[in-house]
Amino acid sequence: MKHLIAPSVLSADFANLQRDIEMINSSAADWFHVDVMDGVFVPNISFGFPVMEAINKYATKPLDVHLMIVNPDQYIERFAAAGAAVITVHYEACVHLHRTVQAIHAAGCKAGVALNPHTPVALLKDILADLDLVLVMSVNPGFGGQKFIPNTLNKLRELKAMALQINPDLIIEVDGGVGIHNLEDLIDAGAMAFVAGSAIFAAPDPKEMISELKNLKTGTLNI
Ligand code: DX5
Ligand code: ZN
Repeated sequence: MKHLIAPSVLSADFANLQRDIEMINSSAADWFHVDVMDGVFVPNISFGFPVMEAINKYATKPLDVHLMIVNPDQYIERFAAAGAAVITVHYEACVHLHRTVQAIHAAGCKAGVALNPHTPVALLKDILADLDLVLVMSVNPGFGGQKFIPNTLNKLRELKAMALQINPDLIIEVDGGVGIHNLEDLIDAGAMAFVAGSAIFAAPDPKEMISELKNLKTGTLNI
């Protein structure tokens, strides 16, 4: 399987959202990455259901929804109804994570768990078999355009080794400060899905940048 590129809509021009969605539709991207922030779990507020429904109206690729919110359980069904294909919740925001993952599956979505930079991957050992995806945060969540945290590479290698033992089909995704400069190292460390916001939308030609990210390392991943 070739690696997946998930442009983060957070970096799009919200006054021209339909234009930017159609750019992603016609690009080499695989998913739309949709960052929902509540101003409580993270020190920023992004958008909620009305904007997500607008994205879903035009997007022709799966919506990869990253919930940076407390108590996500109460909104799982609404995010599924708003078009989510993948719902990722934060490990740090879920007291009953197994129950939350079950609720995501019951809503018909793939279930992901995100880890903040300080959260060890070993904490996922007993839930890894139940997950479709793990999102390794390579910045502190809340804002686009931050600098990649290098220790992420160690976490990816450790997670990849765990996944080979427990859940070989697991999708390992990385989010924050990802771009053409570090993509190859991230692939080598075991990641297979890549969120990119500023690297794409600040590029002179965002669609061309998506192609470059998608085609950087040809061949197939051993996943
Ligand atoms: C950060 C978000 C990211 C963000 C990535 O909290 O989860 O998805 O949009 O933006 P860049 O690629 O600019 O770091
Ligand atoms: Zn994200």
